[in-house]
Amino acid sequence: MFRLKERLGKKFEEEVQFFKGWQKDKKGVGALIPTSIHTARRMASIVEPQSGLPVLELGAGTGVITKAILERGIRPDRLTSVEYSRDFYERLIRRFPGVDFRLGDAFALDEVLGERRLEQFDCVISAVPMLSFPMARRVALLEDLLARIPPGRPVIQITYGPLSPVTKLPGRYEVSHYDFVVRNIPPAQLWTYRRTE
Ligand SMILES: C[S@@+](CC[C@H](N)C(=O)[O-])C[C@H]1O[C@@H](n2cnc3c(N)ncnc32)[C@H](O)[C@@H]1O
Repeated sequence: MFRLKERLGKKFEEEVQFFKGWQKDKKGVGALIPTSIHTARRMASIVEPQSGLPVLELGAGTGVITKAILERGIRPDRLTSVEYSRDFYERLIRRFPGVDFRLGDAFALDEVLGERRLEQFDCVISAVPMLSFPMARRVALLEDLLARIPPGRPVIQITYGPLSPVTKLPGRYEVSHYDFVVRNIPPAQLWTYRRTE
């Protein structure tokens, strides 16, 4: 009973923190309520722990997806996670010791990753609110991400609209609908992108 109360208290605290983040920067946070654990687990399901490569997460927020990635068997030091908001970042480094959190802009990854900018990652798990940015920037970000993972491996992106948040560009990358998660507020669409061979 005590454990349940403690868990509910923590969840409530996360939701309050998320709401405060949303109030401060509506476009940057992009959602009113944190991603659900169901969505986080679906997103983390693309990770291939046996690849031995690190994982790149973008827009960690309260860390619900970070937790799901670690639960896939990724060691904390094999996860690099970029978060733009200092408030979220400071909580994340306390909550997930050992994860390589980077405070910065996912649209300036070379700068944010610094000494790790040339590293290959297994896949990218992104909760950056793509719809808050112009399409040309979304395409540029996606192509930057695809260059950081092996051909055939995915970038997964959460969005709330019915369409892929990054336009199709045949010959450049492949776009697939991965899932529609009803157990999320609002229901979430998951899209994957892969480099065209
Ligand atoms: C929709 S929230 C999702 C957060 C997380 N999935 C959760 O449920 O707590 C989007 C997150 O992306 C972050 N973000 C927005 N723009 C960003 C950028 N350019 N680079 C890195 N993170 C960004 C926001 O600060 C926010 O934490």
